[in-house]
Amino acid sequence: MPETTPTGLTGLAFGGDYNPEQWPESVWHEDVRLMREAGVTMVSVGIFSWALLEPSPGVYDFGWLDRLLDLLHENGIRVDLGTPTVVPPVWFYRKHPEALPVAADGIRYEFGSRGAICHSNADYREAAANITTKLAERYAGHPALAMWHVHNEYGVPVSACYCDSCAAHFRRWLATTYGTVDAVNELWGTAFWGQRYADFEQINPPRVTPTVGNPAQALDYKRFADATMRENFVTERDILHRLTPGVPVTTNFMTALSQCDSVDYWAWGREVDIVTNDHYLITDGRRTHVNLAMAADLTRSVASGSPWLLLEHSTSGINWQPRNPAKAPGQMARNSLAHVARGSDGALFFQWRQSRRGAEKFHSAMLPHGGTETRVWREVVELGASIDSLSPLRGTRTQADVAVLWDWHSWWAQNLQWRPTEDHDARERADSFYEALYDRHLTVDFAHPEADLSRYPLVVVPALYLMTEAAGTNVRAYVENGGTLVVSYFSGIVDEHDAVHEGAYPGPLRDVLGLTVEEFSPLLQGDTVRITGPDGSELTGDVWTEFVVPGDAETVWTYADGLTAGHPAVTRHGLGEGTAWYVSTRLDAHGLDALLGWATEDARIAPRADLPHDVEVVRRTGESGTFLFAINHSPSDVKVPLEAHGTELLTGERAAGRLAVPAGAVRVVRLDG
Ligand code: GAL
Repeated sequence: MPETTPTGLTGLAFGGDYNPEQWPESVWHEDVRLMREAGVTMVSVGIFSWALLEPSPGVYDFGWLDRLLDLLHENGIRVDLGTPTVVPPVWFYRKHPEALPVAADGIRYEFGSRGAICHSNADYREAAANITTKLAERYAGHPALAMWHVHNEYGVPVSACYCDSCAAHFRRWLATTYGTVDAVNELWGTAFWGQRYADFEQINPPRVTPTVGNPAQALDYKRFADATMRENFVTERDILHRLTPGVPVTTNFMTALSQCDSVDYWAWGREVDIVTNDHYLITDGRRTHVNLAMAADLTRSVASGSPWLLLEHSTSGINWQPRNPAKAPGQMARNSLAHVARGSDGALFFQWRQSRRGAEKFHSAMLPHGGTETRVWREVVELGASIDSLSPLRGTRTQADVAVLWDWHSWWAQNLQWRPTEDHDARERADSFYEALYDRHLTVDFAHPEADLSRYPLVVVPALYLMTEAAGTNVRAYVENGGTLVVSYFSGIVDEHDAVHEGAYPGPLRDVLGLTVEEFSPLLQGDTVRITGPDGSELTGDVWTEFVVPGDAETVWTYADGLTAGHPAVTRHGLGEGTAWYVSTRLDAHGLDALLGWATEDARIAPRADLPHDVEVVRRTGESGTFLFAINHSPSDVKVPLEAHGTELLTGERAAGRLAVPAGAVRVVRLDG
């Protein structure tokens, strides 16, 4: 069995992507000296090195990588070794131009960037398996090898290819998945607009069409593209398992919903030995630390709650957004340690030494252009020491309070064209509900809609448009057995093939919510509706309203104006031992907080009013004890109540009663007992 943590590491992982091929070897010695100074314990190497490792077909040059791995080993630095299959060399493409992917509009991408791969292409598959085999044979047993890093960020920058090989592969996939072309006709609803197929051979990828194409076909193509990438990952993984038994294999995910939308990480989480993630702050004016917490919680969730590893983040600014602000002093450590709080057994960066050439020369690094006389470097060295002092928490698990249901397939389906309004955005609802839970100081696990929910007192369903009957049965059983459920509008509408469930909306949720929805009534841009509550309180909704017809559910808030005036906006339904809430409009932050206030009361979750705003308090527990993280994102010094005495690991001080956390600082208390 492969390990599930990097082999040979006793503490947390600290380091980053190391691309020494961009520098003369003389620089490598300075690199490892400075890595030791910074407390680096592991680096990722070779991710983009295929052109150097196989300079011409079948001719290999491993000399430089041998010397590099030996040097790192001599200096006690573990290696996360990349299979370089994300960028085949130019000679490969000149020999096999059809391995370059084709966009939906028929344009074939050129060589000269990265990630230009048609995952169905047989020549690519063969060449990738070959270089992976050569690497594994060469480095099996190398003492520096801690884990394998397959490829890089499957799903970006190309999420699907639409070429003829993919068309053939898609047909095979359909035949295996559905058996007959009649089944495909039925499930895709090809009777609509005369799209009936007589044979699999007639089916193509969803290439550009004059107007909107078949939505079920588009959804299946997302599934196919995801499964095809996963097949290639599994091929490489199995080679590595066979040739280097015991060494764990990963590929770096990008779970932040704003960073990759083409990969079903529930499925990928089951295939890797260690879940690893890359996270970059999206600086679009929203609270970046909330988005970070959400991505980290999602990563831990796809790892089934086990420790995972933050394989990339940035020390300061990045270079691929329209505007790339530097991180404020202390922000890097808050970011890194927030990932650790939420389950990462380490913190690694892109990249070690800032490039002087190439597309990423303005992306920050651990060792900036300015060298060691820089703020970033000083903060990196300080962070290395902090990470070292947190070693005891390795292997412990983050404790979650509530669950949010999330499903990539549902998200894909919601993003298809011709919906009731383009202003509804499933990701926005997920972000907003997450933020409301974060502001109530609740730690969130994400859960697949068909997963066991029984350990959560509260389950939130932000916008689960696609829901199987099984998912409906699952949430119903959860409520009947005493759970509290909160469902937001446009959930439970279609099945896995984007076909509307039989009967009134919301098919599999009607019984559990005790209502039906007769009609959607999206609002025009900028329009709002007033909603009045039982105690005379008023809330505001926008984007979406509905004609809700209550069955057994009681109406708690009612639309006070607009087309749906007099209809329920928020309902509550007691079922079995539990309660199910429904909200049929887009509530703002204030409204979501009010709704969650009621729901958490039903769920008997005590309010955490004693915790200051923007102070993240998260616990990890395990055999080595309980560790309380307090991360102060606010500009004020704060105090956080402790339930027990303990030792603060970053300062070494004893802590009891109310823990002082200065503005912008992080404290991690190992509680006694
Ligand atoms: C990641 C990628 C790295 C680097 C980084 C820059 O998505 O894996 O190679 O490009 O972005 O932010």
